[in-house]
Amino acid sequence: MVLLNGKELASKIRQQIKEEVLKLKSKGIIPGLAFILVGDNPASQVYVNMKTKACEEVGIYSINHRMPKEVSEKELIEVIKMLNENPMVHGILVQLPLPEHIDEEKIIEAIDYKKDVDGFHPYNMGRLARGNPLFSSCTPFGIMKMFEHYNIDVKGKDVVMVGSGNITGKPMTLMLANAGATVQLCHIYTQNLEEKTRRADIVISAVGKPGLIKSNMVKEGAIVVDVGISKVAGKVVGDVDFEEVSQKASYITPVPGGVGPMTIAMLLYNTLLSVKLKEK
Ligand code: GUN
Repeated sequence: MVLLNGKELASKIRQQIKEEVLKLKSKGIIPGLAFILVGDNPASQVYVNMKTKACEEVGIYSINHRMPKEVSEKELIEVIKMLNENPMVHGILVQLPLPEHIDEEKIIEAIDYKKDVDGFHPYNMGRLARGNPLFSSCTPFGIMKMFEHYNIDVKGKDVVMVGSGNITGKPMTLMLANAGATVQLCHIYTQNLEEKTRRADIVISAVGKPGLIKSNMVKEGAIVVDVGISKVAGKVVGDVDFEEVSQKASYITPVPGGVGPMTIAMLLYNTLLSVKLKEK
């Protein structure tokens, strides 16, 4: 069994980004990324802090907009418009989830797609669906990078994607299909999930349900990627029963230290891509 060490790979990618940022700075260009955090969701605060720290480490200038949970849709859109116009800002990230009274779709569509480093805007999702991506969602993009690094060729592989969300499941399905994999997208209405996962060469789970993927659900030698993040008794765990499943898998991601660090590395990568596109 090989551990897919996202932490180590992400660190290498961050080092490369750091060097590129230095080169840009010598030309007088400072990459900038703006974060918008609405409300006081503790997990969201942790994520934004981690992303801000990662920017600092590679020399990307970051701006943090914290807004109260009562903020109106209109006020939030005003801030986004201001950031769209700000030439110092190359990327805009609105941390999700947003409070109930705010229409997430409207907010995402308000972001200039050229600064949509999360890859959530319909323009960027559409480009991905057409097989011609501009900005790709960071979590699935990081997983593709990890496959590439470990020489895992997905072409012709049977993949089961568990979880059909906009952040991971849907864009992951498109990226894999673009790369020649046969992908089955499973969700809460899927019947006999275990029958499907048991046939898969690659199982990816992005649900947020600890213990969802057990060893009787994967075939011998399968590649298993765990995107879930939950807290059980103060410990961060994924969707995969790691103890059991790692006995059967050929490659597996740990939680923490697998997909998570890759997501952040790809956010920095996308921010740099935005700078390059602008300067071209
Ligand atoms: N919430 C959970 N994951 C993400 C992410 O990748 N980006 C944003 N903006 N919000 C999230």
